[in-house]
Amino acid sequence: MPRTVRIILFCLTFAALIGGGEAVVANTVTPFDRAVGTPRGQLHSPYADFAGVAQEGHKIYLSHDCNGCHGGGGGGGMAAPLTNEVWIYGDDDDTLFRVIALGTGSLSPNDAFQKQGFVRKGSENVVGPMPHFGEIFKTDDEIWKIIAWVRATICERHPAQC
Ligand code: HEC
Repeated sequence: MPRTVRIILFCLTFAALIGGGEAVVANTVTPFDRAVGTPRGQLHSPYADFAGVAQEGHKIYLSHDCNGCHGGGGGGGMAAPLTNEVWIYGDDDDTLFRVIALGTGSLSPNDAFQKQGFVRKGSENVVGPMPHFGEIFKTDDEIWKIIAWVRATICERHPAQC
């Protein structure tokens, strides 16, 4: 085989290997990177039936110490309540996912949250930044399940807002 052909074959094989590697990386996009890489308004929960995964979502919430700031039932504590009528940045799936994944204010790495144009619309008694969890959670699914639990809890406590 002529040398150039061998070199070309080698390069093609190498490129295929690298290409395969990228496919694996694509499967492991963190929720943080998902929130940075997806235009606003395009993140949607897969759980239309949020009550069905609410219990699982609550377990994930408790096991990640969200309750340390938001209270075990989401009714607030050191930080904003999650289950009252006030939404600081908005109540849609896309916004809630980004608040959790990117964090807010000075706790959002590289100002990722503010760079997406978010400003406070609602105000709670306590005002401060939210830490980012988009690298602690390994999958989007965990965040969607927590959001499902927040929505199910609101429906239970304030049926009129549901
Ligand atoms: C160190 C305290 C702290 C922890 C831990 C924390 N948060 Fe927060 N969270 C905040 C603060 C402070 C805000 C308000 C952010 C702002 O005004 O920019 C907030 C805002 C939110 C909001 C928006 C609430 C609204 O009314 O609009 C959601 C949703 C939320 N957090 C979910 C979570 C989840 C889920 C977890 C766990 C994975 C969590 N938080 C862990 C402090 C915390």
